[in-house]
Amino acid sequence: MATAGTKNSLSIRDNRTGREYEVPILDGDVINAIDLRQIKVNEDDFGMMSYDPAFSNTASTRSAITYIDGDKGILRYRGYPIEQLAERASHLEVAYLILKGELPTKSQLDSFVEDVTFHTYVHENITEQVKGFRYDAHAMGMVISMVASLSTFYPDAKEVDDAKNRWQQIVRLVAKMPTLAAYTYRHHRGLPLVYPENELSYTANFLSMLFKIGTKEHKPSPVLERALDILFILHADHEQNCSTTAMRVIGSSRSDPYSALAGAMAALYGPLHGGANEAVLRMLTRIGSVSNIPKFIEGVKRKEERLMGFGHRIYKAYDPRASIIKRTADEVFEVTGRNPLLDIALELERIALSEDYFIERNLYPNVDFYSGIIYQSMGFPVEMFPVLFAIPRAAGWLAHWEEMITDKEQRIARPLQVFTGPAVRDFVPISDRR
Ligand code: SDX
Repeated sequence: MATAGTKNSLSIRDNRTGREYEVPILDGDVINAIDLRQIKVNEDDFGMMSYDPAFSNTASTRSAITYIDGDKGILRYRGYPIEQLAERASHLEVAYLILKGELPTKSQLDSFVEDVTFHTYVHENITEQVKGFRYDAHAMGMVISMVASLSTFYPDAKEVDDAKNRWQQIVRLVAKMPTLAAYTYRHHRGLPLVYPENELSYTANFLSMLFKIGTKEHKPSPVLERALDILFILHADHEQNCSTTAMRVIGSSRSDPYSALAGAMAALYGPLHGGANEAVLRMLTRIGSVSNIPKFIEGVKRKEERLMGFGHRIYKAYDPRASIIKRTADEVFEVTGRNPLLDIALELERIALSEDYFIERNLYPNVDFYSGIIYQSMGFPVEMFPVLFAIPRAAGWLAHWEEMITDKEQRIARPLQVFTGPAVRDFVPISDRR
């Protein structure tokens, strides 16, 4: 048994050559992957790489934004526990915290809210673009397209190394996401677009742009307005998830933030990621009743189905966001009436938390399991659900984008590969091919 040493390093012995290497251990249990490259058999070898498909054990960056402890179900934005933020903050207050690193003072928050409020309009050309989509075009496809096209209205956004310019684009994107989302909803229903109203709060303005009919002011229930604010807080960031990684990778080539955010939204769209909230609703609707659950669960165990809204790469305990959303659901249903799908969801959860198949795989409800039931009860169509995820996550994506741009250790993202293709071979004229 080797004696516990005091050196903060790994001693690696390559048994192919008998050579030993000392690799320094950095802060915590981290080594620089590039330190493996010195391990070679022959001098002109490329050197040792680490192989990590889907980056399950690879830190791609240092970050100070969000901390997650997946075993303990801990989630903190800039050190503040998500439970306290959901309870006591507003979404824009949390967006400021995520973007700037500190909770805003009253004057900082007032000025941020004013900045966002005054940038909620989009160019009239965008309203023409909305009309060009089919009536049944998926909301995510529409918003991704419109976010990308925003880059053509702000060519100066390419000045990514200018801090003032970055902040201007960040404010524009945080401000315009709800407008673009509302425009897709109105387009689907053949309703005239509703323009932003500056007297309303961020979420109240969003609900007004969605549901206002005629000239009558749309007064959303304060309960629903607060519930949406809480849902936005819970979705604002989640460290190096798939879409945030996409944002960082695209941004690393110095692409403008609108193009990078469109790419991040495209990653979020997938049913294994932010598209899961839509997939959960379709799954619950397909199950149809509590009596059909046992048959569905058998299908999951036979791997014919996936229990959407369950499981997580990091959380091996209950996703803390799911607990808060579940509590928020009760408040929403006080106003909207109970969503019958909740009974199916609760029974699915009860079974999944009691059966070995799910326990062995650490499958707990994640952020997407209960959110869709609330959105449906609030009147959102199911194809809007991933868009409702993207609106608040814009703050997280942009905070990570700016952290990457200003990180001296970062360069253009360019991973290696383990080549498995054919060895060199000569071209074969088509007449000789079989
Ligand atoms: C989000 O990363 C983030 O932080 C994301 C997110 C954020 O805020 O940005 O938290 C938001 O994307 C939440 C996750 C939403 N997705 C879903 O709810 C879709 C259903 N869940 C999964 O497909 C899955 O759990 C993932 C994608 C979330 C995680 O996948 P992993 O870590 O790659 O796990 P895996 O697919 O390798 O599964 C491990 C085992 C497998 O079984 P075995 O092959 O070992 O027998 O668990 C099984 C999987 O079959 N499994 C599931 C399951 N999830 C995993 N089986 C049934 N239902 C599921 N949901």
